[in-house]
Amino acid sequence: MKTTPSKKIVYPRAKHGFEGRTCSIAAVGSYVPKRVLTNADLEKIVDTSDEWIVSRTGIKERRIAAPNEYTSDMAARAALLAMQRADVTADQIDLIIVATVTPDLVFPSTACLVQEKIGAHHAAAFDIEAACSGFIFGLEIAQQFIMSRTYNTVLVIGAEKLSSVIDWQDRNTCVLFGDGAGAAILQNRPNTHGLLTTVMGADGRKADLLSMPGGGSRCPATAESVAARLHYLRMEGKETFKNAVNAMTMAGEEALRRCQLDISQIKCVVPHQANRRILDAVSERLGAKPDQVFVTLHKYGNTSAASVAIALDEAVQSGRFHRGDLILLVVFGAGLTWGAAVIEW
Ligand code: UT7
Repeated sequence: MKTTPSKKIVYPRAKHGFEGRTCSIAAVGSYVPKRVLTNADLEKIVDTSDEWIVSRTGIKERRIAAPNEYTSDMAARAALLAMQRADVTADQIDLIIVATVTPDLVFPSTACLVQEKIGAHHAAAFDIEAACSGFIFGLEIAQQFIMSRTYNTVLVIGAEKLSSVIDWQDRNTCVLFGDGAGAAILQNRPNTHGLLTTVMGADGRKADLLSMPGGGSRCPATAESVAARLHYLRMEGKETFKNAVNAMTMAGEEALRRCQLDISQIKCVVPHQANRRILDAVSERLGAKPDQVFVTLHKYGNTSAASVAIALDEAVQSGRFHRGDLILLVVFGAGLTWGAAVIEW
């Protein structure tokens, strides 16, 4: 479905009594580990080929964290970069939200560990779990706190060490994922527009399509559960693929409709980086031209909650859009979950 072209941008928030207050992304930052794992490296681990991986996914390599490098370490590095770029000190941060499915520990939260690592001792901190959709869910939560005048400065991070939950014997999944982190500083900055709208959705009926069966209260770790390889990520690829295309398209269209925007007015689409074929199908359905869509998948694979955050940072640093441009984020992940956001950068 295409929306009616319009030069006028509609600011959905302005209708709900938030006049004068905006939630702006002051700066972003990202971090990926140094170690590169290529498709050629994977050919030595499982029965796969560079040709299969590139043609079916678009992924050429991914980054793998060091054994003693944890999700909170990558998150803190991305956060410190975003803080430096936003000229925000640790003392100014009111809230830290970390989106992850690979926390350092089941508890306490990775956000608390990040708080300590960046020295933001006045900040409240918690994790959210919306899988690959987590960063957009985090942006929406941050926006609610900022627009309600509860907080002025919120740090939102998507960070994953997926290499710690990948079954390196399963060629269906181990070629797809990588590690990394992306962060954004959100602030009330008058005379800017920032986040225009955020769409979030979920369908728990399809929870089994992508999950990690072991390690929770349903299946705590036992010698048997470890032997049965239940503590690794599992995915039904084909069904997940179909749902990803439908949900990302639907979320993107809804976000554009709410702002009465046509896709041609969007300078850059930054999608969750799961599979090149998914990106192409979603772009085509949204009516986006290939040069509107920002892709990092070939370098990093699927980094779940970190994916759209890393891509956003790389798009900004490479000058793909500038202040005042309109951008569209679209995401999809386990849950199932999905989301989209329109941002006036
Ligand atoms: O971030 C959350 C969202 N995640 C996603 O959206 C991922 C969605 N799914 C996908 O990206 C794709 O479904 C995959 C890339 C996972 C798989 O692609 P596919 O085109 O759906 O392949 P398939 O599962 O239908 O497998 C085709 C064949 C199978 O062989 P047979 O049964 O036809 O003989 C697989 O065993 O390819 C085989 N295969 C592989 N061959 C070489 C599966 N993985 C590999 C591999 N190397 N790594």
